Amino acid sequence: MGKRHIELTQDMLRPKYSGLDDTGSSLIELTVDLDIFRDNLKTILEYVRPARVIAVVKANAYGFGVAGLVPVLNEFEHVSAGVANADEALELRSLGYDGRIVLLGYTHPKNYYQIIHSGCELCAYRPENIPKLAEACAALEHNLRLHIKVNTGMNRLGVAVGELRELIRLIRHYPQLTVVGLFTHMANGGEPEADSNLQQVNRFHEAIGIAIEELHYRPECHLANSGTVINFPDMYLDSVRVGALCYGYHPPGDLPDDIGIPVTACFQLASEVIDLHRLEPGEGVSYSLTWQAERPVTVVTLPMGFADGYFRDLSNNAEVLINGRRYPLVGNITMDYCMACVGDDPVEIGDEAVFIGRQGDEEIRLEDVAAHSGEAVIYQLSSCWSRRVRRVYVGGVGEA
Ligand SMILES: Cc1ncc(COP(=O)(O)O)c(C=O)c1O
Repeated sequence: MGKRHIELTQDMLRPKYSGLDDTGSSLIELTVDLDIFRDNLKTILEYVRPARVIAVVKANAYGFGVAGLVPVLNEFEHVSAGVANADEALELRSLGYDGRIVLLGYTHPKNYYQIIHSGCELCAYRPENIPKLAEACAALEHNLRLHIKVNTGMNRLGVAVGELRELIRLIRHYPQLTVVGLFTHMANGGEPEADSNLQQVNRFHEAIGIAIEELHYRPECHLANSGTVINFPDMYLDSVRVGALCYGYHPPGDLPDDIGIPVTACFQLASEVIDLHRLEPGEGVSYSLTWQAERPVTVVTLPMGFADGYFRDLSNNAEVLINGRRYPLVGNITMDYCMACVGDDPVEIGDEAVFIGRQGDEEIRLEDVAAHSGEAVIYQLSSCWSRRVRRVYVGGVGEA
């Protein structure tokens, strides 16, 4: 038998946003509406004015695909980008983002040269790293703008308020280093009643006082994430750092349904029916047969599994929309597939299946899926959509 000759076009060989060569074989599409994303940024800017916005686009923009969002981010003068680590900062630069990038998390000294060279602003909190930063700056003949991260109670990263004065004095010793920002992160911003909020804010105000005394100017102060923006309008300070609100979902916490900021989910996650089976009463579905039919029903197969980021915890505990109706997922979610029971309804192979988004009059929100999954917070769900999920961008660019 002769070998089949396949001609690969340049387009087939070009890597796409998802990170996989996109042959179109993945039937899971995450559609991101750039017009909605832009409107959300405008809404947040308006809402927190005169504070500015640091859009948090770490973890591949929470899973929505940072590459597709860069053109919209580039439209805004008063929006900068916040990332978690050096790779994300450099990726953003290589994608053509020309705004300000603030590295909000830990950077290993081995990455100092690249970060300084890329012109990003860096988070600082450990005194022993300051001379290393200054040395790298001197070698590159570059200056570096720093945001000091203060630990006010989250106890993850940051300098203690009692050690801030010494840290600033140390930094001021090096002319290549300038403190441009001072920030902290809230442990409970989504919970308006939590006592820790007031304690953290008070500590941060103490830190701001120390910084002004030592620097003789006020650095850009920022503390509020999405939950804090919703709950504490007097805590916007000079900038807010928001992720969830930019993408249009509600951060976790004790929040009213109407959060007061009219942002809209900018994404839909959908696939299609690829197989179906008629089951008799007592027949089960998937590994361990954890679900059994109680009457004759049709079960459809959807190409969405835990390797795509649809967690196994959602087994027997999530829904999907097909032809405008809601159906339960049944049986264990497997690596590549999940199944839904459609009863006697006339569902066909190729019918669209919406996991998150709207179909007809029905809607499944990411918040609902997170609520069902027990353990998974909303952020975990979106940031774990894997590279098998095709990111598709709709809407215009250059329209801010
Ligand atoms: C330091 C920092 N700031 C801001 C944010 C944004 O949080 P949110 O998505 O809740 O707005 C995060 C997210 O985890 C963060 O780690």
